[in-house]
Amino acid sequence: MYTSVIIPAAGFGERMGSAIGKQFLVLNGEPIIVHTLRQFQRADVIDEIIVVTREESFAMLGQLIANGGLTKVRPLMKGGRTRQDSVCNGLSAVNERCDIVLVHDAVRPFIAREVIAQAAEAAAVSGAAIVAVRAKDTMKLAGPDGRVEKTLDRAFLWNVQTPQAFRLSILRDAYALAASRNTAATDDSSLVEQLGIAPVIIEGSYDNIKITTPEDLLVAELLAPRFS
Ligand code: C5P
Repeated sequence: MYTSVIIPAAGFGERMGSAIGKQFLVLNGEPIIVHTLRQFQRADVIDEIIVVTREESFAMLGQLIANGGLTKVRPLMKGGRTRQDSVCNGLSAVNERCDIVLVHDAVRPFIAREVIAQAAEAAAVSGAAIVAVRAKDTMKLAGPDGRVEKTLDRAFLWNVQTPQAFRLSILRDAYALAASRNTAATDDSSLVEQLGIAPVIIEGSYDNIKITTPEDLLVAELLAPRFS
């Protein structure tokens, strides 16, 4: 089973309020993306890593990859306007032997290697698998007027993370359908669901945070020593 991972890393970090993309902010002495890439470099199930980033970051990231001994990383790919465009560019670069493809946000450095393996194996068996954690808060559905319409049953609610893992042909079909229908989504699973496929949920860990805002970075500094 040949397994590739696409790492979208072409975001601007607007919600972080920083001048550089948040994937390049330093965490425990190293850029966030280096922590993320190292987890996939060390995961036995992963054969190649495809990083998608903005062209102006190619030189800096290339240096970080060389210095970090991140030998599974393939030539860098150019990002797009949205995350979806960036993943689509990454999809065009996977190895022709690829069976299973994972997609993982560059800004989630605390992904455990066991969870990477579980996601890849579940996708090999059932075609599509996503990592998620059970919702901790009570969730409400609100109308456009900001008033509660409904309280949702927490027992069935999950906070979805990455990685999300798919048989390559499924993810390619999902992106082709999205392009033909002009569908936009914030995760890859949503596009696969449009094919009528129900991805399997792999229960992950609350550690696997997405570093998005300045307070996430404070939490990340506390978590980092556990993953180095
Ligand atoms: O924008 P968001 O916080 O959801 O970003 C999730 C991931 O997608 C980040 O790793 C970010 O760098 C990446 N991204 C991208 N191309 C974009 C926007 C976001 O690769 N145009």
